Amino acid sequence: MTTWRTVRETDLTAADHTALAGLLARAFPETDLRGRSWCSERPELRLVGTDDDGAPAAHLAVLRRFVRVGTAEVLVADTGLVAVDPSRQGTGLGLALLTEAARVLAGLGVPFGFLTTGHDREGFYSRGGWRRTPTQLTRTIERDESVQVWREASLHLPLGRGEFPSGEITRDGYEV
Ligand SMILES: CC(C)(COP(=O)(O)OP(=O)(O)OC[C@H]1O[C@@H](n2cnc3c(N)ncnc32)[C@H](O)[C@@H]1OP(=O)(O)O)[C@@H](O)C(=O)NCCC(=O)NCCS
Repeated sequence: MTTWRTVRETDLTAADHTALAGLLARAFPETDLRGRSWCSERPELRLVGTDDDGAPAAHLAVLRRFVRVGTAEVLVADTGLVAVDPSRQGTGLGLALLTEAARVLAGLGVPFGFLTTGHDREGFYSRGGWRRTPTQLTRTIERDESVQVWREASLHLPLGRGEFPSGEITRDGYEV
């Protein structure tokens, strides 16, 4: 059975970081996380699904921030590091993670979840209620400090507080 918990960043223990870094390294073998439990922007909280043996099997990270959408400023729960341990992928755990995420994000006082991903993963997120933003272009500062223009999937999770506006999106910071 999977037990779900949310953990604020400052409350993570050294053992938590070690276990999460291992999970993320297995889930993202092509990304050099430098042994850390985060990639670029440091999140403010994690949602972690833990197995009976106490090991994390599913994870995502969240940071509330404003993104620019055209001329508007939109508060979002920016979401990243969405991962299921490779040994558990394809068993429905990812969808369970998105279901828990929708519950957690709904309690954060923001109108939308937001994330960028590849076209090949859009189908997964759509199963969890995530929708394309009206304009499919997001600018983000990359780890090498260049500005990335992302034209694959920019997705939002509506949280019952209006429609995501049209316009090119700018994330004035690093991806979570
Ligand atoms: C993406 C990921 C979180 C999905 O977790 P999972 O446990 O394998 O997903 P589930 O078994 O719950 O699948 C849920 C549904 O999404 C679909 N799905 C899963 N991965 C998919 C993918 N990469 N692309 C398209 N659809 C996918 C499944 O087919 C399933 O649909 P179905 O019920 O109609 O068959 C997991 O594969 C993973 O950690 N991948 C590596 C890290 C990664 O790419 N994370 C996303 C970064 S944006």
